[in-house]
Amino acid sequence: MIRAGILGTGSALPQRVLTNADLEQMVDTNDEWIVTRTGIRERRIAEPGETTSDYAVAACQQALTRAGVEAAAVDMVICATVTPDMVFPATACLVQDRIGAVNAGAFDLSAACTGFLYGLACAAAMVQAGLNRYVLVCAADLLSRITDYEDRKTCVLFGDGAGAVLVGPVSEGRGFLSFDLGSDGSGGHFLYLPAGGSKMPASLETISNRQHYLKMEGQETFKFAVKAMASSTERVLETAGLTKDDIDLLVPHQANIRIIDAARKRFGLDEDKVAVTIHKYGNTSASSIPIALDEAVQEGRVGSGDVVVMVGFGGGLTWGAAAVRL
Ligand code: ACO
Repeated sequence: MIRAGILGTGSALPQRVLTNADLEQMVDTNDEWIVTRTGIRERRIAEPGETTSDYAVAACQQALTRAGVEAAAVDMVICATVTPDMVFPATACLVQDRIGAVNAGAFDLSAACTGFLYGLACAAAMVQAGLNRYVLVCAADLLSRITDYEDRKTCVLFGDGAGAVLVGPVSEGRGFLSFDLGSDGSGGHFLYLPAGGSKMPASLETISNRQHYLKMEGQETFKFAVKAMASSTERVLETAGLTKDDIDLLVPHQANIRIIDAARKRFGLDEDKVAVTIHKYGNTSASSIPIALDEAVQEGRVGSGDVVVMVGFGGGLTWGAAAVRL
């Protein structure tokens, strides 16, 4: 079987910073509450007129450049997003066109914050099966577009951004070691966007009822997240034949520093073995894992031969983990 691994990483974030002090002017909240409950100090917000595909394109171009692979060699573009430019065509098709991946297929994937890990598993399977040689996986979300800035329970949490990796063949001893993907649809109502789908098409009523904004049961999501992060990490290590001592870097979904810390303590990892970006970017949905991975690679925290475990959870409910030797 062909071995699949990560050949290059990229990320893109908006310039505009939304601080906790800014949010204090918008809703009844304060910096102390946000920092102690979430670990977030600021987040990035896209400008009006910018789109999810703008950031996905920038992240994909970086990943290709760093991998040294031409866009025309890409066989498939997968975009994980819950905030596509439009319901259709797929944002992946817009990206495929704009980066010049003229020989690639393209599709979007919806698994909320776990979307990047689902995309990575698809890409690895495609390469390993010999179906495709190079698969570009991007995760991009402008959650600010579905965030209710009158709801203090959610608006302090989210930010915008995109991350990407190029998946392709790697030499023996490197590449993906295992995946763990799961879902529990019975918890879908803990985190969802009520209107705009076939169940509740857009109408004057849905707009006036603010039903085009994300709704979340914070505490239920929190409890689920702590359990899912631990169990998914355990399964992915076991399947790969690894122990927690083999982890060079844990890259968790960035939703809340308390959720990240619970996972870090559960596996007895030092702080330098866990990638954390939540303080500066907030929760950027599917893109949080590839953004944190890209930063760790660019900073030289991980490199060739290192074992990286990525783990996430999100709407669906969904969860997932991936172990890879870079
Ligand atoms: N500022 C000030 N007070 C606030 C704020 C705020 N921004 N938000 C809520 N509060 C208040 C509440 O009203 C409540 O007040 P009350 O006791 O008078 O009713 C109090 O703070 C405590 O609220 P809780 O909801 O119990 O606070 P909690 O400690 O659970 O923290 C949080 C809330 C941060 C949302 C937490 O539950 C969490 O992180 N949950 C997980 C969220 C998550 O991971 N979501 C992402 C999923 S991934 C995806 O697919 C997008």
